[in-house]
Order: sequence, then C-alpha cells, then structure tokens
Amino acid sequence: MARKPLIAGNWKMNNTVSEAVVLAQEISNGFERDWLDHVDVAVCPPYVDLKPVRTVFEFDKLRIAVGAQNVFWEPSGAYTGEISIPMLREIGCGYCIVGHSERRELFGETNEDINRKVRALVAEQLNPVRPIVCVGESLAVRDEGSYLAYVDAQVRAAFAGVDVSEVAEAVIAYEPIWAIGTGRTATPEQAQEVCAAIRATVTELFGAERAVSMRVLYGGSMNEGNASLLLAQPDIDGGLIGGASLQAKSFLSIVREAL
Ligand code: PGA
Repeated sequence: MARKPLIAGNWKMNNTVSEAVVLAQEISNGFERDWLDHVDVAVCPPYVDLKPVRTVFEFDKLRIAVGAQNVFWEPSGAYTGEISIPMLREIGCGYCIVGHSERRELFGETNEDINRKVRALVAEQLNPVRPIVCVGESLAVRDEGSYLAYVDAQVRAAFAGVDVSEVAEAVIAYEPIWAIGTGRTATPEQAQEVCAAIRATVTELFGAERAVSMRVLYGGSMNEGNASLLLAQPDIDGGLIGGASLQAKSFLSIVREAL
C-alpha cells in the first residue's frame, strides 16, 4: 500500500503572530492546490500562532494542517503553563509533535512523559490530533554503534500500552540529534536504515498491516538540496523540517520534492 507522504514544518520558537501570519500567507500564495492530492502538509508553529495560521489557510480554503509542538496529557486543571489536547482539538490542530529531542534534552522530558502524551493523543479517534513521535540518537550513541537498539527502545517506550486499534493515525519521525540544526544531514542510506528498523519495530508491536500504513518521517537538516534523495528512500514517508520550514520558498520546494 502506498503511503501518502507528510511534509511537516517545525517552526520551533520562531515567529510572533504577525510574522507567522505573513509566513503562512507566503506558503499559501506559493501553493498549488492539487499538490494535496499527493502529499499531506502541516506546519507546527508556536501555540499562540496556531489559530491565526489556521485562519489564513481556512480563509484560502487550503487543506494545510496545523500542528502543535507539544501538549500536556491531562484534559484540564491546575497545570500552570500547560496546554491540553481539547484546546488543540477545538482550534483544529491536526497534529502534535511529541518527544522532540529539544524537549527531551532541554526540558527533561522522559520516555514516560512521552508515552503519557502519546496515549492521551491516540485515545481520541474522532477529530484526531495525530502524534508525530520523535525518536533519534545522539552522536555518542551513533559512534558507539548501538543506535538501532536505542531507537527501537524509544519507539517501544513511546507506544507502551497503546492498542493496535489506536495507532492508525500516528506518525513517527526519526531525527538523529547530530543532524538537527547542524547542517549535517544523515545520508539517505543512514536515514533509510533507521526508518526501516523503526518499521520493523512497529511490525512487532502492532503487526504488518499497521506497519505498512504508518508514516515514518526523517528530520534533521532536511532542505531543498537533499530532500529528493531522502524522500526517495522506500521507508521514508516525508520530512519534519526545522530551519528550512521558516522560509516559504525552501519549504515549498521540499513539498514539491514529495509529490
Ligand atoms: P532542522 O530541525 O531541520 O533545523 O535540523 C528539524 C527538527 O528539529 O525537527
């Protein structure tokens, strides 16, 4: 079964509301409507930009999704500073990045936290906020040679306790930490090796049917120059794009490579 690719922009902590609206308008202006027959596209801006960016795409009747970069697992309550899944759902968020390495490294997120977020997201199947679960090894783990086992363990931990009936919409992104924001992209062969291994783990966890339909993305210094070879790999079903998603021109070029 052919998987429809997903190109998702991770804007990280960039763009005020007015800047975000300008970037969304530039993306919309350069977008050919029929691309969406062949590729799903999402942008993941900071929380405060979600609604304004969504409004730009809605106004233009363009089915580019918006996604959050993080979420808390409780539905409401005394959790100062947190954002819940119902809040994301009501403003029409289609995706939520979970367990990005910056959240793991800088904000102390553990595999257990990530698992709680994934379980909370997949529990609601109506109007799903689909998790984009990030996994990936550090340079030390890669050099030491145990990266496949490391990523396998991260995938198992993220999906612990999740039922096969819940994972249809989930996405996994392989983002080697040594390639994020460094300009040092994984080679297509390196990325393919780990993405195939992730699919093998998903097969063990949820069976071949789910593994064949689940999208596995690559992220880490993907840009207009290297996207085409990465996206041509059989187990790479799209990209999670950081730096190159902050300019409409480069983001749109990567979307075009996925057609
Ligand atoms: P990058 O970021 O494309 O700037 O390397 C990717 C990511 O962190 O999602």
